[in-house]
Amino acid sequence: MVEYERHDYDVIVIGAGGAGLRAAIEASAQGARTALICKSLLGKAHTVMAEGGIAAALGNVWPQDNWEVHFRDTMRGGKMLNNWRMAQLHAEEAPARVNELEEWGALFDRTDDGRILQRDFGGHRYARLAHVGDRTGLELIRTLQQHAVHNGIDVFMECTVSRLLKDGDRVTGAVAYWRESGNLLVFNAKATVLATGGVGKAFAVTSNSWEYTGDGHSLAYWAGAELIDMECVQFHPTGMVWPPSVRGILVTEGVRGDGGTLRNSDGERFMFDYIPAFFAAETADSIEEADAWYEDKVNNRRTPDLLPRDEVARAINSEVKAGRGSPHGGVFLDIATRRSTEYIRRRLPSMYHQFKQLADVDITAQPMEVGPTMHYIMGGIRVDADTAATTVAGLYAAGECAGGMHGANRLGGNSLSDLVVFGRRAGLSAAEAAAGAAAPEPDEAQIDEIVAGMRAPFERDGAEGPYDIQRDLQETMHTLVGIIRTESELIEARERIDGFKERAAGVGVYGHQQYNPGWHLAMDLESLLTVSEAIARAANVRQESRGGHTRDDHPGPNDAEWGTKNVVIRQGADGEMEVDTSPLPEMPAELQRLFEE
Ligand code: FUM
Repeated sequence: MVEYERHDYDVIVIGAGGAGLRAAIEASAQGARTALICKSLLGKAHTVMAEGGIAAALGNVWPQDNWEVHFRDTMRGGKMLNNWRMAQLHAEEAPARVNELEEWGALFDRTDDGRILQRDFGGHRYARLAHVGDRTGLELIRTLQQHAVHNGIDVFMECTVSRLLKDGDRVTGAVAYWRESGNLLVFNAKATVLATGGVGKAFAVTSNSWEYTGDGHSLAYWAGAELIDMECVQFHPTGMVWPPSVRGILVTEGVRGDGGTLRNSDGERFMFDYIPAFFAAETADSIEEADAWYEDKVNNRRTPDLLPRDEVARAINSEVKAGRGSPHGGVFLDIATRRSTEYIRRRLPSMYHQFKQLADVDITAQPMEVGPTMHYIMGGIRVDADTAATTVAGLYAAGECAGGMHGANRLGGNSLSDLVVFGRRAGLSAAEAAAGAAAPEPDEAQIDEIVAGMRAPFERDGAEGPYDIQRDLQETMHTLVGIIRTESELIEARERIDGFKERAAGVGVYGHQQYNPGWHLAMDLESLLTVSEAIARAANVRQESRGGHTRDDHPGPNDAEWGTKNVVIRQGADGEMEVDTSPLPEMPAELQRLFEE
């Protein structure tokens, strides 16, 4: 029998970004004994990479704004693949969650008359993003973290969950290890919430840091839950491209929201050549018109520089491929022409310092070089919109690891609001479920088997290490399952992933369990390979282009065939990955009327 620390809770929350923190706060507020398990240091979450703001129809800058407009923008931005009920709850509840953050101490920028200021972002009809300069995600995490710690929630920091425990069909906790000591922990829990974020580290160029290896997606999948629309991957149009050591680091959409424009190496504002019919009626089709609107302070988002992210990322990709890129393979983003030094340093302080310190570029005087970076996955664990319940009993999911909310493409700013809206709902549902449940008992045989799998790489001393496999996987996902996809490349990606799985099954690490990053990565490889296979398979099945899934061999959406279908991934009885489709839930008539305009 293996030795481990044992912890008993009503609710465990795995992941401590915005969704995890908000879920833990809610579960604890409902009286549930709650633990927050955090792979990294508390506060170090991808949430902070949502820099430019949190979307909520507060109507402070544009009184015409309301939840119905926000709902419609979100659905249209998601190319109508969203779970309509999630999009509705999100739009309805986001303002209350923003006001709550303010009550808990978040210091948002203000309008002249003292209300929460809102800025433009792509795809939002009105300036809608409450923000704190370009550090909004950081402020959100700071606020939630203080609230959670103040409320006495138990936090397990630098603690990684390897597998969920089950009793029959029900999830009953998790097996984890301390990253520093390598010692093992078993959590027995009446309800479990997954809030682990995304999968960025499956790709070579990403805004995500090392933690984002698809853990929640994989834990859920291995426990029998369904994943939906894993092919829908968001490449944020503006990541840094130079120097190589910082490639992929995010350049907030707030730069364009505050007036920044994109140019190619010929100095052309190329986005005017890429306005899709879907948005043509609402987007300025000439530079003169866009500049006049800008000068008149008319809604800035109507410039094509602020089209939804999928459109802008594809356009940049095309410009670079056509030989009109910047010296280091991006395009130029210029805010210095339109905005004063004082304005830029006040509104975009992080961007100013990021470029000055990392690239020796002064953005108040020079353009930035930017290009697409893998930022977010819209696909994720299938959840019930109202309760955040997955398809497995006892298991809930919220935030980036949950699917459905954003459809085929997420609008910027909608992730911070997603985190707090559905984090709260997941925490509430988990606490309610725990209140009526008996305390689970650990199943020693199951724990022994999980731990044997975790320790297996030590038995293979001298075999291939995990680093080369991760690098090869990232390169494959970047080149064959990236912004533009085609069947032959997706098949090749699948074949390569099968090869990586074979190599990973034989991976070996040296040393012992005490702080051993090679061992940690050997375990993370399992989830990286699981989500990569899911993305590649789902991308091959959806034979159309929609949002963050672009097929060169199936250009454009195919509404009749694919417009109302989720691509579903689950683990078959033989342990192999199965791909299926299922119909989208049908939107009620009173919401459908919003799209008739
Ligand atoms: O560009 C940004 O500030 C990112 C925001 C988001 O992903 O929501």
